[in-house]
Amino acid sequence: MICVYGATGFTGRQAALRVAEKGTMPFTLVGRSAEKLEAVARSLPRKPEIRVADSADPASVAAAVSGARVILSTAGPYTRFGDPVVDAAVAQGIDYVDITGETPWVQGVVDRHHAAAQAKGVRLVSMCGFDSVPSDLGVHLVSGALGPMREVYSGFSLKGGVNGGTVASALGMAATGLALPTGAIRWDPLLERWLLPFFMAPTNTWVVARTAALLAREGAGYGPGFTYEETLETRRRAFAVAQVVGMHAARWVVGRAWGRRWVERLAPAPGEGPSERTMDEGFFRARFVGTAVDGRRALAVVSNQGDPGNRSTVLMLVESAFALYLDRDRLPARAGVLTPATAFGDVLVERLRAAGMVLEVRPLPAQP
Ligand SMILES: NC(=O)c1ccc[n+]([C@@H]2O[C@H](COP(=O)([O-])OP(=O)(O)OC[C@H]3O[C@@H](n4cnc5c(N)ncnc54)[C@H](OP(=O)(O)O)[C@@H]3O)[C@@H](O)[C@H]2O)c1
Repeated sequence: MICVYGATGFTGRQAALRVAEKGTMPFTLVGRSAEKLEAVARSLPRKPEIRVADSADPASVAAAVSGARVILSTAGPYTRFGDPVVDAAVAQGIDYVDITGETPWVQGVVDRHHAAAQAKGVRLVSMCGFDSVPSDLGVHLVSGALGPMREVYSGFSLKGGVNGGTVASALGMAATGLALPTGAIRWDPLLERWLLPFFMAPTNTWVVARTAALLAREGAGYGPGFTYEETLETRRRAFAVAQVVGMHAARWVVGRAWGRRWVERLAPAPGEGPSERTMDEGFFRARFVGTAVDGRRALAVVSNQGDPGNRSTVLMLVESAFALYLDRDRLPARAGVLTPATAFGDVLVERLRAAGMVLEVRPLPAQP
């Protein structure tokens, strides 16, 4: 059974629908309100079981997830609601996926659970949404083509909406100090775009670095001294300058308690998100340029139509859960607190391709 924890939320409702539509396994919806859960269940083409639990009551969470083979959690901010869920997963030997981007929380899960989960053969895989599957699998694809690498850099372009849950999680992180990407605006002749610091880079580079570290512990790794840089790309320099100014202004505002209250009032509330039209019209494309230790180069492209934070995130999350549920025999033989690339590798690449996402890699002329 797959257990959708947080099934009444904006992404939770979409994930429940995708599990119902694309899967055939039994599934359970878990949330705080039986009434809200019943309403979600009525909208689905297959009938789930319903269980009520509240993260404030860890015993209720442990009871609600019992018997599950995989937990898919969309109850965020994870810093507030996530601990009892991963605690129950490890205690009961249940594999786990989520879509958090809260790296300090994931680091806490690593510290508390990596050794125990590894010993029990449990896979805990956070960041299976737009942060950070494209980054982690983009670098994974380049590595597959090149072997040991010197460096990878990427350029992202995207359009989409914002969820209330995402704003709440970002404001929670801002309250304890938000890492901002650094670096100058520069023209890249290969990608033929201006590259600028990307606000999601601190989260995504953290995940790629953890992948590299986990692989290095096994003796493989991405290469000695490997570096990863993530940027936003744009055709127009003026847009790049405006973005950087906007990012610093936003950080200044959310670095203050009054600023966070102001953003909270203006942004969508938890449970809300973009319109169907905004979600249909969104997209993302990420391009990864890698250089091998011997100078060979390769370009990977990861892209998808639809709002990255909803359409693509739900697709990547549910396919990750399906990989844990259906492809256990084909997954890399690893356990513990893993990253998308170390937990799933090519299995997720194949699943996402089959679901319509673009994930491709090709050689480039070697650097002169
Ligand atoms: N990786 C990505 O690209 C990506 C994209 C989108 C979202 N996210 C993250 O995913 C998370 C969810 O986003 P969202 O837009 O779906 O948020 P949301 O609509 O606010 O949903 C939050 C869910 O958490 C549940 N919840 C709240 N308090 C709880 C408690 N005490 N115990 C158990 N459940 C509780 C809510 O239940 P009620 O309905 O009862 O309130 C709801 O089901 C956020 O952390 C967000 O940052 C990540």
